[in-house]
Amino acid sequence: MKVVVTGGAGFIGSHLVDSLLARNYEVVVIDNLSTGVRKNVPGRAKFHKLDIRSNKIRPLLKKISPDYVCHLAAQVSVTASQADAAQDADINILGALNLAEAVKTLPIKKFLFASSGGAIYGEASLIPTPESEPAEPLSAYGLAKYTVERYLDYYEKTFGLPVGVARLSNIYGPRQLTSAESGVVSIFSQKILRDEELPLHGGGEQTRDYLYVADTVGGIVSLMENGRGVYNFGTGIEISVKELAKVMGQIVGRPPRVAYAPPRSQVELGRSALKCDQARKDLNWRPQTKLEQGLHLTLDWFKKEVL
Ligand SMILES: NC(=O)c1ccc[n+]([C@@H]2O[C@H](COP(=O)([O-])OP(=O)(O)OC[C@H]3O[C@@H](n4cnc5c(N)ncnc54)[C@H](O)[C@@H]3O)[C@@H](O)[C@H]2O)c1
Repeated sequence: MKVVVTGGAGFIGSHLVDSLLARNYEVVVIDNLSTGVRKNVPGRAKFHKLDIRSNKIRPLLKKISPDYVCHLAAQVSVTASQADAAQDADINILGALNLAEAVKTLPIKKFLFASSGGAIYGEASLIPTPESEPAEPLSAYGLAKYTVERYLDYYEKTFGLPVGVARLSNIYGPRQLTSAESGVVSIFSQKILRDEELPLHGGGEQTRDYLYVADTVGGIVSLMENGRGVYNFGTGIEISVKELAKVMGQIVGRPPRVAYAPPRSQVELGRSALKCDQARKDLNWRPQTKLEQGLHLTLDWFKKEVL
C-alpha cells in the first residue's frame, strides 16, 4: 500500500511518516522544505522536494498512483495569514485543490486532510466543542482550512473521492519548530531549559487543548484506514498557557520565569478544547499520553537535540 504524505518533512508529517513505515506502508513525501527539514524524512521514504502548487503535482501523483494521500503541507501561521490572506489562500486553498484535482479520478482509498479544530470553530459557545458546532473561523488561516473542507465535500459528492478530515487541536512534541507560533510548548521548552523568560502573550489566561504528537498520528492513521468524514482529535482538556508554564516548571524542577507580553494577534482565541467522542466511538481512538508525560518526552528531546 502506497501513501503520499504532503508536508512529510514537517513536525506532524514526519511522525506520521515514521508510523506509516512502521506499519509497512510504502511512503512518498512531497514537501517544499519551507518549514520542514530534510533530515526529518527517513531514508526508507521516497522524497520529492516540490511545492503542492506546482504543475508537476498532477503528473507525479498519476505516476505514483497512491492508495492514500495524507495532505498536511500548509502555511501554518495564523499571524502570517492575517498579514497576507492571499498568500495563505494560495498555499492552503489552491495547493489543496491542485492535489484534489490530481487524484479526483484516481482509484484512491482516502484523501486525508489535516484541518484545524483550534481555528475552525472560532470562539465556540460549547467547550469542549463537538464537530456538530458551526464553523465560525476568525482567522484567514481558519477560513482557508474550512474552505478546503467544503471543497473536499464537493469532491466526495461529485467525483466519489473518499475523504477524511482530521480537525486537530494544539499538537506538541519532538521536532516541533520553536519559530512556529502554534508551538507554545516548543517555545517554552527551549526557553525554560535555557532559564529564559516565558512570554505570556495577552496574560496567558487563554486555554488550549494540548495533544501529544504520537496520539495525533494514531488518530490520523486510524481515520485514514477506517474512517470517513470529519473528526476532532484532541484531549477535551482545557489548560491555560499560564498553567502550562507552571507544569513545565514542575517538570524541570524550578518555577518558570514568566513575562507578560502583548497579545500575538487580534484573532487569538480565548478558549479552545475539542470534544472527541466521535473518534472514540467510530475509530476506537483515544489519547494515551498524559500532559505531564508528553511534556517530559518533549523536554527530553529538546535537551538532546536543540540545546
Ligand atoms: N501543529 C499544530 O498544532 C496543528 C494544529 C492544527 C492543524 N495543524 C495542521 O497540521 C499540518 C502540519 O502542521 P505542522 O505543525 O506539522 O507544521 P509544519 O510547518 O512543521 O509542517 C508543514 C510542512 O508543510 C511543508 N509545506 C509548507 N508549504 C508547502 C508547499 N507550498 N508545498 C509543499 N510543502 C509545503 C513545510 O515545509 C512543512 O514541512 C498543517 O496542515 C497544519 O495546518 C497543525
